[in-house]
Amino acid sequence: MSETVRVGIIGGGLMGREAASAFGRWFALTDVPIQAELVAVADVSEAAREWFRRVPSVRHLVSDYRELLALPEVDVVYAAVPHNLHLDVYLDTLAAGKDLLAEKPFGIDLHTATMIAEAAKASGRFVRCSSEFPYMPGAQAVVSEVKKGGLGRLLEVRSCFWHSSDLDATKPANWKRQSATCGEIGVMGDLGMHVAHLPLRLGFVPRRVYAQLQKGYPERPDGKGGTAACDTWDNALLHLDFSHDGADVPMRWETKRLAPGETNTWSIEVLGTEGGACYSTKEPKTFWRFKGGKQQGWERVDLGFGSVFATITGGIFEPGFPDVLQQMWAAFLTERSGLLGDRFGCATPDEALMSHRVFDAALRSNASGRAEVV
Ligand SMILES: NC(=O)c1ccc[n+]([C@@H]2O[C@H](COP(=O)([O-])OP(=O)(O)OC[C@H]3O[C@@H](n4cnc5c(N)ncnc54)[C@H](O)[C@@H]3O)[C@@H](O)[C@H]2O)c1
Repeated sequence: MSETVRVGIIGGGLMGREAASAFGRWFALTDVPIQAELVAVADVSEAAREWFRRVPSVRHLVSDYRELLALPEVDVVYAAVPHNLHLDVYLDTLAAGKDLLAEKPFGIDLHTATMIAEAAKASGRFVRCSSEFPYMPGAQAVVSEVKKGGLGRLLEVRSCFWHSSDLDATKPANWKRQSATCGEIGVMGDLGMHVAHLPLRLGFVPRRVYAQLQKGYPERPDGKGGTAACDTWDNALLHLDFSHDGADVPMRWETKRLAPGETNTWSIEVLGTEGGACYSTKEPKTFWRFKGGKQQGWERVDLGFGSVFATITGGIFEPGFPDVLQQMWAAFLTERSGLLGDRFGCATPDEALMSHRVFDAALRSNASGRAEVV
């Protein structure tokens, strides 16, 4: 008989609802010996709570998240709240003895991320940080190409996440556009873990950063007929280097809310003298492989639905955001039960902390105008 894990969500907004959708079609996974059941949701907004009435397994809808943490039947908490609340919510979750899938950026800044990582270690609970794009089949193809070797001397790594919606000046402000709630790191807190996870997992650990940060519109409609100030960094170009086989290799992490024409484009590129690998969600099932030699060229491979965890979905179909979010949850729950094997695991607290070290150094670099040590 398979184990059933009961999940409670703190923060039933955009991501809380996505998680509910992943659990709602859990039966699509065919080789995960764990059942996931969403039983409780905590949100201060009544409208947010009401949405979850459509989920039959939800037995508790509460406004104070501490009530959810007091429920003995909740095994795992998924916390998806604004960044200024991460510290309190995550520490309270650990103190309540629950395992935690924590949304990125895992604290509003380096200081709080350090406190969370230390508390996670001290608690002995199973804690991971959300980052789903590495579960795209093309991202996994990049991972296996790098692990296979044969790329020659590494030349460059590029990891990007681009949004365009902030180019629309009429888009209302929200907590992600204000440093008090999103964090001084701005777009790096919003999108940065997504570009950090794969490079860090591949051992490309930045030593130095030179950062170019840009702000967006200083004011936006507040959605209530007035205007609201917006002060976060909207675009961040991080020029990094890491050491590989005794040589310095340049790497770029790009997180942008002002990227013309890009709705939600995540990409990774690893280039060497003899081989390379490239994937972008712009072409969700296409993987590009570079082959060096006298006659050089890029080979285009149609991957289809080759997911980390097998599903009912036919192998020729295209994967999307809800699919990889469910794959990430499968990885979280499988690893929590000690059954992950050699499959790709979720971002660890150490990886989340490392991403914060880079973002902190990026703020220093942007202020000093010089490259800073991470
Ligand atoms: N992994 C991803 O792809 C991804 C995408 C978007 C956002 N996120 C992350 O998810 C988290 C939430 O972002 P979102 O886009 O879902 O935000 P959101 O604004 O849509 O939802 C946040 C929810 O938290 C609720 N909330 C606020 N204070 C609360 C409290 N004290 N107790 C309980 N609930 C409270 C709000 O009412 C809201 O419903 C952030 O950390 C963000 O960075 C991750």
